[in-house]
Amino acid sequence: MKRSQVNDIIRAADDFIRTFGYILPPFAYWSPGQMRDRIGEIGGIVGARLGWDITDYGEGRFDELGLFLFTVRNGSEEDLRRGGGMCYAEKIMISRQDQISPLHRHIVKAEDIINRGGGVLALKLFNSDAAGKPDGETEVEVATDGVLRRQEAGAVLRLDPGESVTLMPGNWHAFWGEGGDVLIGEVSTVNNDLTDNVFNEPIGRFSEIDEDEDPLHLLVSDYPKWFG
Ligand SMILES: [Fe+2]
Repeated sequence: MKRSQVNDIIRAADDFIRTFGYILPPFAYWSPGQMRDRIGEIGGIVGARLGWDITDYGEGRFDELGLFLFTVRNGSEEDLRRGGGMCYAEKIMISRQDQISPLHRHIVKAEDIINRGGGVLALKLFNSDAAGKPDGETEVEVATDGVLRRQEAGAVLRLDPGESVTLMPGNWHAFWGEGGDVLIGEVSTVNNDLTDNVFNEPIGRFSEIDEDEDPLHLLVSDYPKWFG
């Protein structure tokens, strides 16, 4: 993706999010230079990879295959191993109408995926088979706001604004907006996007950036290059 497109997506996402009364934390609006100036005090942001995350899954077709994410908070894998403390994470995301987040599962992370407003959030769901691949046979059982639902393998679960689903490790899921763009909340176990995403197709998790203009804000995938 071109950096100019990333910058445009950031501006549009911020406007969209604000229409629901949700406001991102202060660090969302720091420039790259401001982050660099404060690097001594923002280890908690850079280390936990909090912030802007826009992905086309490396395929260069963001409108069809892509996701906007902002990681608001993310706990400690050390705490998770220890069994206490900050074991949680929160993201705010946008799936545009008919923009697919491709089929994947997580190894460690359980996640509540919440329709915070806008269109209908559609999720295609499978269990894992013995080899860890999507199981085309067995019924999927998931909790939706505390109510168990069972559906055929590969069937589509549709969540209206206010509804959510709890996806456990091993639950394969692909999702997209229907009838409009959707503001999505994610409340989850500590998140490590470098190690915990298993995709069904051989695709990447992050975008390749073509630097055609300066970044408005850094993406989490920019942090290693900027801050080592
Ligand atoms: Fe996921």
